[in-house]
Amino acid sequence: MLATEALCFSWQQDQPALCDLTLDFSRGRVTGIIGANGCGKSTLFMNLLGLQRPQSGRVLWQGEPLRYDKASLLALRQRLVLVFQEPDHQLFYTDIDSDIAFALRNLGMAESVIQGRLEQALALVGAGSFRHQPIQYLSHGQKKRVAIAGALVMQSDYLLLDEPTAGLDPQGRAAMIEIIKRISDQGRHVIVASHDIDLIYHICDYIYVMAQGRLLAQGSERDVFLQSALLARAGLSQPWLVKAHTRLGMPLVKTEQELFDIVGQSQEMPL
Ligand SMILES: Nc1ncnc2c1ncn2[C@@H]1O[C@H](COP(=O)(O)OP(=O)(O)O)[C@@H](O)[C@H]1O
Ligand SMILES: [Mg+2]
Repeated sequence: MLATEALCFSWQQDQPALCDLTLDFSRGRVTGIIGANGCGKSTLFMNLLGLQRPQSGRVLWQGEPLRYDKASLLALRQRLVLVFQEPDHQLFYTDIDSDIAFALRNLGMAESVIQGRLEQALALVGAGSFRHQPIQYLSHGQKKRVAIAGALVMQSDYLLLDEPTAGLDPQGRAAMIEIIKRISDQGRHVIVASHDIDLIYHICDYIYVMAQGRLLAQGSERDVFLQSALLARAGLSQPWLVKAHTRLGMPLVKTEQELFDIVGQSQEMPL
């Protein structure tokens, strides 16, 4: 449904930020875009949303080239919603409910429908304990959750998360992983751009590896992350669970818990 074909984009002449990208975001439930800082992840998101327009190649939406007239872009941005890296770029009101409901009120939706969606979104991100606090007093992690709730109320087909774990403490990071899983369980496509390699390994089922605006590799999380030389070329290292597998011969698992479960079981086995 969402794809790119030989997409090239430059911010400045003769300095391509994205080069020949052919990507298909319907391959995975949770698609990861990984690459070092400056490799073009956020720029790609801007092209997907029609905020920037490729100089050559194209974005495909529902099998058709993206149309850039106002009405088409408005329709697209109800089906494809971006959560920025910095929540302060997304939150404008001082109270959470108004902020989250803003886009829906703009669309002229009935207040009863808005309230229903609001409750659902706030429950999904676990915002109950701080719902009535002014936004400016929330922690960075809490603001991120509110920004995600603001995107969720759109009930879009695709949710684009730019560096969702940046600036979060371990507890906030674990909560974010849980939130992304819940969103994906609802049947929505999620696209996560990040250099948090352990996060991507944990939650994604299809990965694109980028370096300097180009596609370096793609495949399932196991295919991609077993290739340590390739990751090094992208300025990345292997997830620690994959390192434990390749260097220490531990079983290849997706989560810490899985590993501890297996190791725990084998210790309990009689000699
Ligand atoms: N608004 C902008 N104007 C000019 N250059 C930009 C702009 N945003 C990003 N770039 C440049 O485009 C390249 C890709 O940046 P970006 O998409 O932000 O990478 P990432 O999100 O992977 O860190 C970088 O060289 C960056 O300096
Ligand atoms: Mg970025």
